[in-house]
Amino acid sequence: MNIGRNDPCWCGSGKKYKKCHLPSDLARPDSSTNAGRGRGGLPVKTAGEIAGIRAAGSLTARLLDLVADRIRPGVATAEIDSWVHEATIAAGGVPAPLGYRGFPRSICTSLNDQICHGIPDGTVLKTGDIINVDVTTILDGFHADASRMFLIGAVSGKARRLVETARECLNRGIRAVKAGNRFGDIGQAIQEYAENLGYSVVRDYTGHGIGREFHEEPTVCHYGKKGTGLRIEADMVFTIEPMINIGTHKSRLLDNGWTAVTRDGSLSAQWEHTVRATVRGVEILTAT
Ligand code: MF3
Ligand code: CO
Ligand code: CO
Repeated sequence: MNIGRNDPCWCGSGKKYKKCHLPSDLARPDSSTNAGRGRGGLPVKTAGEIAGIRAAGSLTARLLDLVADRIRPGVATAEIDSWVHEATIAAGGVPAPLGYRGFPRSICTSLNDQICHGIPDGTVLKTGDIINVDVTTILDGFHADASRMFLIGAVSGKARRLVETARECLNRGIRAVKAGNRFGDIGQAIQEYAENLGYSVVRDYTGHGIGREFHEEPTVCHYGKKGTGLRIEADMVFTIEPMINIGTHKSRLLDNGWTAVTRDGSLSAQWEHTVRATVRGVEILTAT
């Protein structure tokens, strides 16, 4: 989710993190009804809604498995897009990115220094590349969102270590999820791990609630302070999708209006799952 500078912040990180903000169209929940909302006012899902997101999540995981089977040097990112597009339709789903706020393709493919929202095109993968493939599927009206990194051919140790660090950041973020914990707990778990290894955490893009809509409340920041932020409640469903850079955390938007790249051209890596908070901990809804 892309966040604007002037939107109010719900993630509890306070003034220190100026960019931790929520889009204004999500910032004003309809106060005339509290249906589907928890004690803190954030959306919580019914058992039926969770089942719907779980089904979409299992399709999303299978689509990423399909990518894993076929991706290799010589493949164009537009081909990956068409594999996923066709397989999604064949499974009775809809690729959520296609036409979303004008996005022109069915998946995002973010290569090397691209942080997120890369647009599939004629770019051909070559040995040494690292790429994030981000798949969001709508099935029976419910969204599920996940992404993985892929190493193309022989990849440098530096790039492999980045990819593994980003993966561990996602795992640590997921382990911080439990009803009663706070969103800042997730942020701190990720930030602490990444920064202790000398990497930076992207701030301009965040995780997000998800369900009947692609991007719902809350904003899930991948940095923050333990014990701060809104409380996590059982049956909240949201993504965790840390973007980790070798150099600066700062991003720049390409002229296509979508793709974020690192300002210093350094490599970036990201992994994403859609998760549900439970009383005991967490359920990963996009697990294979
Ligand atoms: N899947 C991305 C996310 O994790 C959002 C992509 S929006 C699109 O939130 F329009 F670029 F597809
Ligand atoms: Co997402
Ligand atoms: Co995504």
